[in-house]
Amino acid sequence: MSGCHDAVTATVGVILTSYQTIMNTGDVRPENPGNSDLYKKITDNDPEDWMPPPPRQALSPAQTETLRKWIAQGARNNKCYSGCDTTQFTFNTTILPIINDNC
Ligand code: HEM
Repeated sequence: MSGCHDAVTATVGVILTSYQTIMNTGDVRPENPGNSDLYKKITDNDPEDWMPPPPRQALSPAQTETLRKWIAQGARNNKCYSGCDTTQFTFNTTILPIINDNC
């Protein structure tokens, strides 16, 4: 947001407007959330240091966990396509047809 980590303000050089800028400036270490500034800043115990800075609302535990999991999973630029129901994801119905058709 303006005044914070948008491309214009870029507070302390951190720009959080796209995957590229987050990976280039947010100090994200794939598979290592504990050493990633992006995660350390949102889980900091000191209100002087944590992000977003007060009086802004801190991220919820669910949001923080989502960020931790994304970094732990490799901080990939992936996305879920509509209709991607992972609960219905099985070898026989999903993988075998791909192998049969292409291998
Ligand atoms: C979840 C949202 C946010 C994340 C992940 C985030 C992340 C970061 C990171 C990684 C740094 C660099 C820390 C360093 O180099 O030591 C930082 C610094 C900073 N950010 Fe944020 N930020 C967030 C929200 C905000 C917002 C909303 C503002 C403006 C109100 C803001 C203002 C600042 C300022 C002033 C600094 C430099 C001082 C400091 O390190 O505490 N940030 N932020």
